[in-house]
Amino acid sequence: MFENKSALVTGGSNGIGQATAIALAKAGANVLISDVDADNGAETVRLIEADGGTASYITADVSNEDEVKTMMDAIVDRYGTLDIAINNAGIGGGMGRIHEQETDAFERVMTVNVKGTWLCMKYEIPMMQQNELGGVIINLASVAGLVGFPGNAPYSASKHAVIGLTKSAALEFASKRIRVNAVCPSFTDTAMVGNLVDEAPQLADNVRVASPMRRMGTAEEIANTIVWLASDQASFINGVALAADGGLTAM
Ligand code: NAI
Repeated sequence: MFENKSALVTGGSNGIGQATAIALAKAGANVLISDVDADNGAETVRLIEADGGTASYITADVSNEDEVKTMMDAIVDRYGTLDIAINNAGIGGGMGRIHEQETDAFERVMTVNVKGTWLCMKYEIPMMQQNELGGVIINLASVAGLVGFPGNAPYSASKHAVIGLTKSAALEFASKRIRVNAVCPSFTDTAMVGNLVDEAPQLADNVRVASPMRRMGTAEEIANTIVWLASDQASFINGVALAADGGLTAM
């Protein structure tokens, strides 16, 4: 499906990003995984190569402009172009109502989730404009970007902002053959949710009750959604915030 295409997956060492890097490579893409977790990045490359795919790793903090630039140079050096960008790196922040949260924690969530997504697109778009066939950008938002998340307002605010960035970028480049969409998972079984549940154990019950399908999503289910959205099967889908949430936001 993605033969001769190159894909960047930020936060690709773990969870949804790792599953997405594996799925894109399986579909034929040359994948650059970037993250701040080098050990699991190397392990993800190993898994992809063992399956016959092509991947490499670079350490880059998405909230650091110089590191984002270096990451973009790396994908061109290694694979020639940037065709598919999955801006997945993100953090959950801590649980707590607004008056209980530290200002530093708010700033950290905004810096990684919002500034990080913005910085990546700032450098991805000019690279995709050089491609005859343009490119595809997919940002990881969340159902918390579509509705409120009581107990984690900074995270919810950051994901609403990611959707705003996505829609605006989609409109700016719709006529330039660059599609920009967001995927909005509900609770997905990764370390991020594990950490939140450790902090607020009642969240585990809330997740089950609040999920029409009575379960979390898997990283592979979200990766499959991302692969489809990145493919030509989704060629007329642009500027959407696509819920992959087992029906949560239909309630
Ligand atoms: P995860 O915690 O399992 O993986 C996130 C990855 O991002 C890690 O490898 C981490 O090292 C990396 N990362 C963190 N900060 C970074 C930075 N500054 N620069 C580069 N890499 C960084 O999380 P998960 O669950 O796989 O989440 C992936 C994305 O999906 C995030 O944007 C998250 O907000 C979003 N999401 C996750 C949901 C869930 O229930 N797991 C639900 C909705 C959205």
